[in-house]
Amino acid sequence: MGSAVAAAAYATPVSAEIEAFDLPVEGALPPELCGDYIRNGPNPQPGSKPGHLFMGDGMLHGVRLANGRATAYRNRWVRTRQFVDHAPYIRMNGTLDLSVGSANTNIIAHGNRLLALVESSFPTEVTRDLATTGVYDFDGRLKAPFSAHPKTDPRTGELHGFGMQLRPGALSYHRIDAGGTLLESRNIPVRGVTMMHDFALTERYAIFMDLPVVFDTMLGLRGKFPYKWSDRYGARLGIVDRANPAAAVRWLDIEPCYVFHVFNAFEDGEQIVMDVVRYKELWRNGNDSFSPTTLHRFTIDLAAGRVSEATLDERSSEFPRIDERLTGSRHRYGYTVAVSATGEGARELRKHDLADGTSTEHSFGAGCVPGEAVFVPAGTGEDAGWLMCYVYDAALDRSSFVVLDASDITKPPVAVVPLPARVPLGFHGNWIAADATRS
Ligand SMILES: [Fe+2]
Repeated sequence: MGSAVAAAAYATPVSAEIEAFDLPVEGALPPELCGDYIRNGPNPQPGSKPGHLFMGDGMLHGVRLANGRATAYRNRWVRTRQFVDHAPYIRMNGTLDLSVGSANTNIIAHGNRLLALVESSFPTEVTRDLATTGVYDFDGRLKAPFSAHPKTDPRTGELHGFGMQLRPGALSYHRIDAGGTLLESRNIPVRGVTMMHDFALTERYAIFMDLPVVFDTMLGLRGKFPYKWSDRYGARLGIVDRANPAAAVRWLDIEPCYVFHVFNAFEDGEQIVMDVVRYKELWRNGNDSFSPTTLHRFTIDLAAGRVSEATLDERSSEFPRIDERLTGSRHRYGYTVAVSATGEGARELRKHDLADGTSTEHSFGAGCVPGEAVFVPAGTGEDAGWLMCYVYDAALDRSSFVVLDASDITKPPVAVVPLPARVPLGFHGNWIAADATRS
């Protein structure tokens, strides 16, 4: 199958929900991995109007591992009000209905709950078997949208997130304690309404990216994905003092760009180092395609009040992940998925040594396309652990669940679990250990 055909098949939604048990395993699954790998992504239900990739109904794909066995695979749509009632998430008056969302971007465990996330709405709680429990607003405390990219501070167990309303200035910075209680939603003044997808957290700071992909009301009211590039808006990083709500946000200009995803950030004296996947620009002419990316480092000099920028890797990639025990601390390694506009070459995972600028790759072969790879620690070293992801094989029109040894990704996979279905192109997943939730 040609690469473009393979890419098209990979992007096509699946039409059925299935369940399979006691799956075959090639190689040996690490027996200590007990829990579920669950990945979210847009998968418009049959009969949906064609729409932007980012707006499709969320579908979860989960593989359950226990004692060296792959005991189950299942996929389920998240039963949101968008899915069940076809309710719009933007009201006719231009405000967000926070109880409506596609829940299509990420899934996390926090405070014993499993939450499917999309940045425009409240979370949706689901069970480990991927049944939908319902909208979750932190017992009525959440009054703003909740990002699909919250971050757990490994020092405190707190979950930090944010949400952008559709009116200028209405960015909320949320802090949830380790038990799941929403403690604070702090207002962060911003100039406009932009697509803010991720942020960074260090020991003392939260860093927000105020970038020139701006909200367009008319696109939204027409049912389109409501964001486009602006040459006028400019680009800034906002440095927020985590401990002091009264401190002013420090906004520092950067070169215009777009960033969906951050690897991590850490403090180095009076500097903050922040590694990201950067688009030189995004959605100048329509918002259905993506330009190539580079790996990029912002070095924020707090004393001088300026940001220096450097390219770490010219090759296009996305879905950066790290060992999340290091969130906010100095990292060395990062993992990405290769990306290309034609689909050609988008068959490898990369392990970047961001300290010395080298990398290693794992190619899955012609017609095989990996999704985001999640690092699961299995020891004390930064790369001691496993990488897990779904890999689509165009020749079979099926996917596999694959585990690699993160300490050397060039080796053959540790384990491959062929699945009875295709897992289409999607967004983010996580490893949910067996003791991370109550259901
Ligand atoms: Fe994302």
